[in-house]
Amino acid sequence: MALLMLVLLLFQTAASMAESFVFHGFKGANLTLDGMAAISSNGLLRLTSDSHVEDMGHGFYPLPIRFKDSSSASSATVTSFSTRFVFAITSQAPSCHGLAFALSPTDGIVGGAVNNFLGLFNNSNLGNSSNHILAVEFDTCKDPMFKDINDNHVGIDINSLISVSAAPAAYLAANNSNETIILQSGFPIFAWIDYQNDQQLLNVSISPSTEPVKPSRPLLSQPLNLSSVLEDFMYVGFSSGVGKLSGNHYIMGWSFSTDGEAQSLYLSQLPSLPVPNDKARQKKYVIIASVIAVVFMIVVSTACSYVAYKMQKKKKEKLADIMEVWELDYPHRFSYRTLYKATDGFKEKGLLGTGGFGSVYKGVMPGTSTQVAVKRISHNGKQGLREFVAEVASLGRVTHRSLVRLQGWCRRQDELLLVYDFMPNGSLDEFLFDDTKAATLNWELRMRILKGIADGLLYLHKGWEQVVVHRDVKASNVLLDGEMNARLGDFGLARLHEHGQNPQTTGVMGTVGYLAPELYRTGKATVSADVFAYGALLLEVVCGKRPIHTWRGGNGGEEEEIILAEWVLEWWQKGDITAAVDGRLEGRYGKEEAELMLKLGLLCSQAVPGARPTMRQVVQFLNGEASIHKSMGLPGSVFYEDDGAEHKGLPSFRSMQSDYDESD
Ligand SMILES: *[C@@H]1O[C@H](CO)[C@@H](O)[C@H](O)[C@H]1NC(C)=O
Ligand SMILES: *[C@@H]1O[C@H](CO)[C@@H](O)[C@H](O)[C@H]1NC(C)=O
Ligand SMILES: *[C@@H]1O[C@H](CO)[C@@H](O)[C@H](O)[C@H]1NC(C)=O
Ligand SMILES: *[C@@H]1O[C@H](CO)[C@@H](O)[C@H](O)[C@H]1NC(C)=O
Repeated sequence: MALLMLVLLLFQTAASMAESFVFHGFKGANLTLDGMAAISSNGLLRLTSDSHVEDMGHGFYPLPIRFKDSSSASSATVTSFSTRFVFAITSQAPSCHGLAFALSPTDGIVGGAVNNFLGLFNNSNLGNSSNHILAVEFDTCKDPMFKDINDNHVGIDINSLISVSAAPAAYLAANNSNETIILQSGFPIFAWIDYQNDQQLLNVSISPSTEPVKPSRPLLSQPLNLSSVLEDFMYVGFSSGVGKLSGNHYIMGWSFSTDGEAQSLYLSQLPSLPVPNDKARQKKYVIIASVIAVVFMIVVSTACSYVAYKMQKKKKEKLADIMEVWELDYPHRFSYRTLYKATDGFKEKGLLGTGGFGSVYKGVMPGTSTQVAVKRISHNGKQGLREFVAEVASLGRVTHRSLVRLQGWCRRQDELLLVYDFMPNGSLDEFLFDDTKAATLNWELRMRILKGIADGLLYLHKGWEQVVVHRDVKASNVLLDGEMNARLGDFGLARLHEHGQNPQTTGVMGTVGYLAPELYRTGKATVSADVFAYGALLLEVVCGKRPIHTWRGGNGGEEEEIILAEWVLEWWQKGDITAAVDGRLEGRYGKEEAELMLKLGLLCSQAVPGARPTMRQVVQFLNGEASIHKSMGLPGSVFYEDDGAEHKGLPSFRSMQSDYDESD
């Protein structure tokens, strides 16, 4: 116990010096608040409330953060910083004037004024460079005095409310269309602000909570030399001011870092917004009704309390979190109790499926209506679990529109629970091999799915801070969201088996048919093995057949094993490669495009790893930025295999697959 206290203490002191922090809600958070600002009982930071007109509020992180060092030689260098937060503006009627994220020399703002000054400045200090204030405003009123562009905009402000740069509130949606966001819609809005000192660029993005992914293009991207704007130590926080038209300005969660990207925030972990009650009169009746209800409840609950107490005690013991100290180090942790509640006790009826790694349950996060998928993985022995948790926690920061988002994790004894975004349309596998559903998969959709997955894999291989080899790319790991966008699931999970207790059993991970031949020899997962698996997936989607399947042939009805890649290759050699395309498409596809896709599939299916393209090349082929004919010899061209022997055409797939036992 003493040790635990000590570690907790260390943890706290470390946090007070750190230049990174994250608040999933502000319950118990030590913020410096002034004016109307308050933290609600469920942890919302409310800067201003619609119960007061012409007022303001500030909520600041209480500790100063170093942004530059005037005493050093590079005194003009301002540190990079990154912040994410989720805000919401609610009101009964249109409100003014919005809120701002701000960097200020004090932990609050001296000389802020109400109304259109957003609590940031006043009439006399406007534009004065000794203010040393950088702000990003989310402004809901058009004020000609400050040259506002409209009544729903985002702007970058330096020492003044006349923005350096401003744009109507909008975001670049996943379908590449620019969508307006109404700041005071009452719905949560995600905001990303990044300043990169080498580029001297301040980027600002917003997106709705229905698409909580950083848009690929920022809303504002403004070159700024901040060295004379910021002082050595600055405070960071939020400011809001209202006028005669008052509203509620909420911050639901906030992360900040001067050391790389700030942590992602997840709506499911944030406090929920109060339900608006529209009519005050209705409220009165509700109060009377609830008084009666409360009296009744007291009577009933007294009667039940003894029983409840007994049952509660039992349940508490059952659900208690037995947390080890090291678990505090890793973010995105959920309590077992939360997940137990979310899945209604892991009941059978919520079971979505059982896969190689464990069972997956559908759940709804308590307090919100966010649907999630909870994966339960049992792990033999505690050894390695900690490394795996470290990895999973870092994977929690991997966000890409073609990857299923990992929201968090939980450990309970030897069991690991992973919480993912729920994908309402299930897996691609179910669509491809269920004839009633396959009709939905027209050619365009198949191409969109394949491109999406290629983008996701490229991101894992190249786009993130470390190379992540997926190791189990296959149709059942391709999940479809509500809009039939493909998202790759289970990335990084194959490592769990590697961390397993018995290093002797280095069984090949993955799924037969998608496994690159060299894996049977080396057992070592590589990005090029992922490309092989992608090739198998590509052929599967285009042909509508599994990578290895049996077929009862015409002569004598003998069962024959078909390797899809070989079969496609045979059609190519016969000069009719598109005969391999899924018959259920009934010819509704671009012949030339289909031909290219099949050839790309074969190119990825090469037995020799070095002969396969990289994921970047695959993406270039798919986007038409590179031509496949130049990269690939037609059948009959010469190939070299590992043994140095010459082979004609593509190397035989069967020969490479025959000398192992199917262990998976
Ligand atoms: C700017 O503010 C400083 C400090 O408050 C003050 O001394 C100075 O006179 C102001 N400058 C202008 C131009 O108002
Ligand atoms: C793009 O996506 C947004 C949000 O998902 C949707 O509202 C909009 O209608 C879509 N636009 C097009 C052109 O598909
Ligand atoms: C800011 O946006 C620009 C343009 O999209 C991009 O090139 C740059 O890398 C971004 N910088 C940061 C820190 O996000
Ligand atoms: C930024 O401004 C400071 C002083 O205002 C100057 O010394 C520095 O050279 C500027 N940096 C760049 C890259 O322009």
